[in-house]
Amino acid sequence: MNSRRRILTGVLAFALLAGVAACTGDGSGGVRGTPGAAGLRDPYFPRLGNGGYDVGHYALTLAYDPATGRLDGRAEITATATQDLSAFNLDLAGLTVRGATVDGAPAAVSRAGNELTLRPREDLDKGAEFRATVTYDGVPQTITDSDGSEEGWLKTSDGALAVGEPTGSMAWFPGNHHPSDKAAYDVTVTVPAGLKAVSNGVMTSEKKTADGHTTSVWHSAEPMASYLATLAIGRYDTTTATALGKVPVLTAADPQVAAKSAALRAGVPEILQWQTENFGPYPFAAAGAIVERDGDLGYALETQSRPVFPLGSFDTPTLVHELAHQWYGDSVSPATWKDIWLNEGFATYSEWLYAEDFAHTPAQKSFERAFADEDAWAFPPAEPPTSEDLFAAPVYQRGAMVLHKIRQTLGDDAFFEILAGWPAKYRHANATTEDFTRYVESVAGRDLGDLWDVWLYGDEKPAKP
Ligand code: TRP
Ligand code: ZN
Repeated sequence: MNSRRRILTGVLAFALLAGVAACTGDGSGGVRGTPGAAGLRDPYFPRLGNGGYDVGHYALTLAYDPATGRLDGRAEITATATQDLSAFNLDLAGLTVRGATVDGAPAAVSRAGNELTLRPREDLDKGAEFRATVTYDGVPQTITDSDGSEEGWLKTSDGALAVGEPTGSMAWFPGNHHPSDKAAYDVTVTVPAGLKAVSNGVMTSEKKTADGHTTSVWHSAEPMASYLATLAIGRYDTTTATALGKVPVLTAADPQVAAKSAALRAGVPEILQWQTENFGPYPFAAAGAIVERDGDLGYALETQSRPVFPLGSFDTPTLVHELAHQWYGDSVSPATWKDIWLNEGFATYSEWLYAEDFAHTPAQKSFERAFADEDAWAFPPAEPPTSEDLFAAPVYQRGAMVLHKIRQTLGDDAFFEILAGWPAKYRHANATTEDFTRYVESVAGRDLGDLWDVWLYGDEKPAKP
């Protein structure tokens, strides 16, 4: 499609022969691409994500065999170049890449650490939509984070579970694995008959194949940050229901925990109803929950539309927390990992609100309890010192305290306007802490610098709550 490249080569050779510095991309038809950046300079994970393109859609076609632990994958990534590109990176941890194409033509592949570089045969022009495919296989790895928690690909008692916060999704598919590049997904998964695969969004088909396998297809139309993608493979008891008069709810539980989790799984529509009244319209076309045995994962996670839980964390406060993340974190996602308190502060505050409405515990009481917790004061919520601190007490407790101070300062009317207005304003987008403070000040109609200085950025515990 592009014959410019040959012309360009001639021009370049002439320039070099003539001893003239070749000028880059003059827009007159001799555009020379440069490689996209190998990272997006996240404050905690500078190499996470990649520059030079923006993914619109992932089509993942996967087959997993729990007996061998082997995953066979093909990722088809539709993206738009945001610069003239000679090459671009994807993040991928482990696994073996068997081949790659860009717009149907074989692309050169190289790997270094978690960076997979594809060099298309022809440069990509800024603004052009392109399609990259990567075929890969291998036994996906479990990633241990700096705080000791495990993510990525977890082997469970009878299958596997993929969880990706903050960086683990690179263990099971190549992609632009920074929360700032959100995309739609279609995930097609083949597993041995008798097992099920459950992912995000709506299941659009499930078929038995002739050779003793089952293939299911999962569609997420709304943009999703890759850390929120999940895939659960194993034996599951499932239930279906409808929430909010229209949203299909699918829950799945390992048969060993199905009975113990049944009552709470049935409570998902009611919680979503209460949250919709407080937070505004539910942001996704599907909902649900996945419950695993305790040994299978160490924490609950707000995977988009269908959060995952170990049985021991499947209680009302945690379910309220993970469902609140659908608004705060999943629909409005952090611009960088430094903005994580926007996820955890709101999700924790939703627990306080739920206790206020249903357990006779005013949020003021929860606030005072959090204030008295010395662990909460290790650092300011908007400034976790290292990646080890991203899920530490200050992010959750002081994050929620910030919201309570806003409520105390502005009153309930303005506060509840903010609670629903924030996820409406940044629906399916990304936001920074500064976007948040600016938004709150716009609702308040005044500067709240003192509040931010003390509660969001302050090192010291104030003398009084
Ligand atoms: N974000 C999850 C939640 O609060 C929790 C989480 C993800 C987590 N990764 C973690 C907690 C690592 C501790 C350690 O809903
Ligand atoms: Zn959370």
